[in-house]
Amino acid sequence: MCGIIGITSLPNNLREPIGKVVRKCLERLEYRGYDSVGIAVIKGNYIEVRKGKGKIIEVSTRLNFDEVDGTTAIGHTRWATHGKPSDENAHPHTDCTGSVAIIHNGIISNFLELKEELIKKGHVFKSETDTEVVAHLIEEYLKLGYRPFDAFKAALSRLKGAYAFVVTISQEPNRLYFARNTSPLVIGIGNGTNFVASDIPAFLEFTNTVIVLRDGEYGYIEPNKVYIEKDGVPVNIEERIRLISWTPEMASKEGYPHFMLKEIHEQPFAIGSTLAGINEKEFDNVVNLLLNSRKILIVGAGTSYHAGLVGDYLLTTVLGLDTHAVISSEYKRYVNAVNDNDTVIAISQSGETIDTLVAVRALKERGAKVIAISNVIDSAIPRESNYVLYTRAGPEIGVAATKTFTTQLVIMTILTLRAGIIMGKLDANEYRSIMDSLNKLPGLLQNIITRTEGRVKALSEYMSRRQNAYYLGRGIGVPLSMEGALKLKEIAYIHAEAYPAGESKHGPIALVEEGYPVVFSILDDDNVDPLLGNVMEMKARDAYTIGFVPEKYIGKFKELLNAVLELPNVDYRIAPIIYIVPMQLLAYYTAVARGYDPDKPRNLAKTVTVE
Ligand code: F6R
Repeated sequence: MCGIIGITSLPNNLREPIGKVVRKCLERLEYRGYDSVGIAVIKGNYIEVRKGKGKIIEVSTRLNFDEVDGTTAIGHTRWATHGKPSDENAHPHTDCTGSVAIIHNGIISNFLELKEELIKKGHVFKSETDTEVVAHLIEEYLKLGYRPFDAFKAALSRLKGAYAFVVTISQEPNRLYFARNTSPLVIGIGNGTNFVASDIPAFLEFTNTVIVLRDGEYGYIEPNKVYIEKDGVPVNIEERIRLISWTPEMASKEGYPHFMLKEIHEQPFAIGSTLAGINEKEFDNVVNLLLNSRKILIVGAGTSYHAGLVGDYLLTTVLGLDTHAVISSEYKRYVNAVNDNDTVIAISQSGETIDTLVAVRALKERGAKVIAISNVIDSAIPRESNYVLYTRAGPEIGVAATKTFTTQLVIMTILTLRAGIIMGKLDANEYRSIMDSLNKLPGLLQNIITRTEGRVKALSEYMSRRQNAYYLGRGIGVPLSMEGALKLKEIAYIHAEAYPAGESKHGPIALVEEGYPVVFSILDDDNVDPLLGNVMEMKARDAYTIGFVPEKYIGKFKELLNAVLELPNVDYRIAPIIYIVPMQLLAYYTAVARGYDPDKPRNLAKTVTVE
């Protein structure tokens, strides 16, 4: 899942050389890929390309991106799919004449056939990528006398697969062509400078006026013009322009060593904004739908799936609604059991995860209504859903989801509370008390971060020397444990497994030996005593027991735990929102202690747009 940026500007409209602006925009997209980097700038009648294997900082310094001047440029940061990371496979790719340069995010599934066809026509390829065929295809149509836009469209009509492209053609030095099919692409409208990028943070320093492109749309930008078409019909631009409330500071580290740490610290604010942004009418419509559904499926991937599991617990266990959380890529298991009496809640912070989008489409086809929970306005999943509830976490740039997870939980909790009161499953006092706790969350979390960060950092020293860990809980503590384990696994590269604590003796405990870390999530619910037994079992096998424990149970657990993290006594239904924060910090500091960059975990990308 690569990051792409295209910029076209009036002369002297940018305060810095365009190469430097592209480099800065790419740094904001680095979470999307970081194995190679490149830029291309139109220089009169030729295109200058500088690219190579390595991180942005290395390649841009080595090849001096910052000195490259011009008015129209494209840039790319790569996450390899076709062809290993190398100088040759880095984007942009050019045709044989060097007058077409292209950057791409996605996969062209029919590229081998196209490549063979082009080789027969005499084209010589310089890389192993699927992308390069598109540059040669455009060249072919230009040779046939097509005008650039027609050549671009003709090339598009030959492609199968997922893509977001930006193309520069030297004949038209002030124009950049783009196309979107599945992979995300957003236009940024500035004053005399326009942008097209994989994600909004790329150009947030310059503009917050955006158009989120939809599947099948293509067109071009010029410094003062945006043109979009779909199936040959022009799109009404005015209707599609959105002003977003994100600020440039939200997309910068603001003094933190990593985005992930900044985003963990931003959670009080993100939760406050999400609570403040709640529109009662929207929620009531959604609750109404849920209460009139035969069955509810919650689909999501990774962390969003874990939010779905928490939601499943709330709707099933607390309210008694027939709910199932489903891993997006496994939706087929349920497809035959869904009909138009059912509702799907699709959780996706990016709103673009292809597995979740495919599940939404298939379940909608069966007649189900879809409610999207997303952090990105106008993104694909919200657009294809019947209802949307937005989290207001601000841009999340660290690859590991943090603030988007806790804000997703806030939305799920409010849905549960509102449905619970209508169903009579919660009385008015209970409702008010949980709502009150939710409203106090920003302050409470701030306090917890301040109080626990030092202790968690100390604990990470131990964790950083281990190869394995278990995360155990019961009830709503199980998805919480799954999320805690995922964070440790994905950024600290420690094998971490989560499962219901009662399962230990049915197999996993066989692995436990002296010093094996076992992290227990103990909540203020009816699982405290069985969990005490599970902690004892682990202690008896010399495990290194770590407990996230509410104040009121500290006495009960203290002797059995090697490390205790004291947390406030909160209603167990909102506890995951609180407990996950020190777990995120534990994963973060463990990754740092092991010398890894938590913002860029190996093999991972932020928005996964391939199935
Ligand atoms: C883990 C993580 C991923 C995402 C998953 C779904 O920290 O970030 O597991 O949660 O790829 O992404 P969205 O929510 O954008 O659909």
